[in-house]
Amino acid sequence: PFFKHSTYFSSSAVLRQTIPIQSSLNDEHELLEAYRSIISKKLEPLIHVKQDDIHSSLHKPNKLEDGDLILPLPKLGLDPKNVSEAEQLCSSISKNNILFDKVVLKGNFIQFFFHHDVLLNKTINDILVSGSNYGRRSTSNPKMILIEFSSPNIAKPFHAGHLRSTIIGEFLSNLYETFGWKVTRMNYLGDWGKQFGILAVGYEMFGNPVELELDPINHLFKVYVKTNTLIEDELKASKNSQSITRLKAQDFFRSLEEGDKKALTLWKMFRSLSIDKYIKTYSKLGMKFDIYSGESEVKKQTILDTLNKLKDTGLTQDNHGATEIDLTPYNKKLGKIIVKKSDNTSLYITRDICASIDRHEKYNFDKMIYVIASQQDLYMQQFFEILRLLKLDWVDKLEHVNFGMVKGMSTRKGNVVFLDTIIDETTKQMLGVMQSKKQLLVPEADLNDTAEQLGLAAIFIQDMKSKRVNNYKFEWKRMLSFEGNTGPYLQYTHSRLCAIESKCKELVSLEDCKSANFSTLKKPDAINLTRLLSQYNYVLNKTMESKEPSTLVTYLFTLSHQISSCYKSMWVLGQPKDIATAHLALYLASRQVLANGLEILGIKPIQKM
Ligand code: ARG
Repeated sequence: PFFKHSTYFSSSAVLRQTIPIQSSLNDEHELLEAYRSIISKKLEPLIHVKQDDIHSSLHKPNKLEDGDLILPLPKLGLDPKNVSEAEQLCSSISKNNILFDKVVLKGNFIQFFFHHDVLLNKTINDILVSGSNYGRRSTSNPKMILIEFSSPNIAKPFHAGHLRSTIIGEFLSNLYETFGWKVTRMNYLGDWGKQFGILAVGYEMFGNPVELELDPINHLFKVYVKTNTLIEDELKASKNSQSITRLKAQDFFRSLEEGDKKALTLWKMFRSLSIDKYIKTYSKLGMKFDIYSGESEVKKQTILDTLNKLKDTGLTQDNHGATEIDLTPYNKKLGKIIVKKSDNTSLYITRDICASIDRHEKYNFDKMIYVIASQQDLYMQQFFEILRLLKLDWVDKLEHVNFGMVKGMSTRKGNVVFLDTIIDETTKQMLGVMQSKKQLLVPEADLNDTAEQLGLAAIFIQDMKSKRVNNYKFEWKRMLSFEGNTGPYLQYTHSRLCAIESKCKELVSLEDCKSANFSTLKKPDAINLTRLLSQYNYVLNKTMESKEPSTLVTYLFTLSHQISSCYKSMWVLGQPKDIATAHLALYLASRQVLANGLEILGIKPIQKM
């Protein structure tokens, strides 16, 4: 056969001749994409369906045994029961076509199996040549996206919702960067509102400057809790539901809103000490925000102008001195929402509306994403609806990416309230799991770091392995296990591939690997692994379409399982040189794809454990 002894270059030359290479540089690297084009072009005159429709119906099956691509016939108006016609279609595609191994009818689908030589020669070499850039899309004119995520509230707990927002937001940021966007990561702190009144008044009574300096987030939280308890006690004790502390707090917040110097100084100190601490904690997660904004930073003028505009266009009405918008005429379920309190102070939604206006002016983004829990779904719809009513033509650039709840996130010490606590606790527990293992390759000195990375992978993967909207239960034991679909399992797979690499590197060089004779790979396990690798770019596209991290995570699990099943049959040591080289090349390519995928998920791949 034509491909038997071909090198990568001749096979890709054939591909290039046959495939109308489309648009950007990237598609050229996409084997599946190229095949989709070829198939749709070939089928168009045969079934009289538009190329584009065929193209979009062609997709990757869930299982390798079902082919490299499948086409659902009923979707294109074809009757799969008309077997002879369908089979004729199959054979007219595969006949004399070196690109296909076979094309067959199964049930409602036509299954396309790519020719192994094309797969092997194109996929492995592409990955090795591009290395950590494999999967990256290059664009000459990058678009700008602002991604707002994490956004905890100063003096309040960093709860599971913030954790999920942090994980998913970082994933989205990495994903958009992979697709060539210029990403700005923004943390929109809850640093304004009546809790600052409570905090300031409470700090006067219970605050301690030394503790504040040492651990601002914890200390402010303690003060906040104490003060709230005091307010509750006062309310209970008073006959007419009055609390002096609460009144003082309201006064303080009003003076903040009015720009009182003394109040602002105190608030600024709380804020900046908290941010210093956040920066440190996020860096443990390997994350860095470009901007710490916050509810406090919304421009006064924007609030005034926007409230006026709302009033002028007749959208607002009075409600006992407060200003309200009735959204029901536009969408019944959106109800009414207050945008200004009777004491003239702003609200969460007022600040969100105005923050988006400020941001649009300042960054002129092509897109902005808010990563916020689905508890705020209704709120976000109200918010976007108001922007629409304000006739801001960039509303369509905004998107709310939501997620479900986490249950049972508690540590031995009780309820987890701070990100630091979660990281420390996970590291400790991971260390315990590791020490119970017999063989550890990590030097003693790196043990803690490794445990931390493994623990983070555990948390991240547990969070991203099912659809975002699903709720899940925080399960220490399960997520920290090295078996099953967990973060530590993916890390283990990566580190094992690193071990193979370092054991064999004296025998075979990376350069040798790039020019390996891949046609020596004959075993089904090796072929299947390559077939999976060839899907990576397609999976990234699907991940981008759905913004679901689970699309990528599921793929990485499948890939890792396939890698594990190759160890038995695909040896490097003790093999003839050409076979050893091809085998190692495939392991290196697998490690690269796994590492690139993990990086997008915000996980640092581990070399040794
Ligand atoms: N700080 C808010 C909270 O903890 C989340 C902020 C979300 N972002 C926004 N633009 N509203 O609930």
